[in-house]
Amino acid sequence: MTVLVAYATHSGATRTLAETITETLTAAGVPAELVDVDQSPDPTGYDAVVLGSGVRIDAAEKPATAWAKSHREVLSSKPMAFFTCSGSAADPAKGGKQKAADSFVEMLGFSPVAVKNFPGWVIMDKIPVHERLLLKSMRTPTGDFRDLDAVRAWAQEIAPLLQKG
Ligand SMILES: Cc1cc2nc3c(=O)[nH]c(=O)nc-3n(C[C@H](O)[C@H](O)[C@H](O)COP(=O)(O)O)c2cc1C
Repeated sequence: MTVLVAYATHSGATRTLAETITETLTAAGVPAELVDVDQSPDPTGYDAVVLGSGVRIDAAEKPATAWAKSHREVLSSKPMAFFTCSGSAADPAKGGKQKAADSFVEMLGFSPVAVKNFPGWVIMDKIPVHERLLLKSMRTPTGDFRDLDAVRAWAQEIAPLLQKG
């Protein structure tokens, strides 16, 4: 079997999480392939799918949403897991909740086998100048909030779920 690990990113954090998931699944005996959604991967030939998206203004990345919409029928026919990568997932006050993930799952119209909200990074040097002002006005904390051990643990957790096709 092969799992497609597709991701949509602006500043690169989601890619690093998707890479970690791909490596962990493969090491656990569940071969996985990492592809940017911008490359329009076809999920048809895969046995299961993990989709990851960065969060921008309380929504998943537009390419992730467009890709999932255009492959909705195929995706609903196999195990699919979804994760977000955001600034706010690092905030304990949010209790792991992510509006972008809830809206994304609602848009899908079916329940993924797993949904997770991971903290990413907010690094001004990686963000276009006009968006830095927006982030500053939102008083978004900056830094690298990734927890790759938590990402590895989630990949281990979903490995058996992805094999239940
Ligand atoms: C323009 C912009 C808007 C953002 N909006 C949100 C948001 O609404 N909620 C949030 O938690 N994080 C928000 N973030 C932080 C990103 O989700 C965070 O930097 C994440 O790691 C981005 O993933 P990426 O590096 O894969 O693009 C925003 C970042 C940018 C640049």
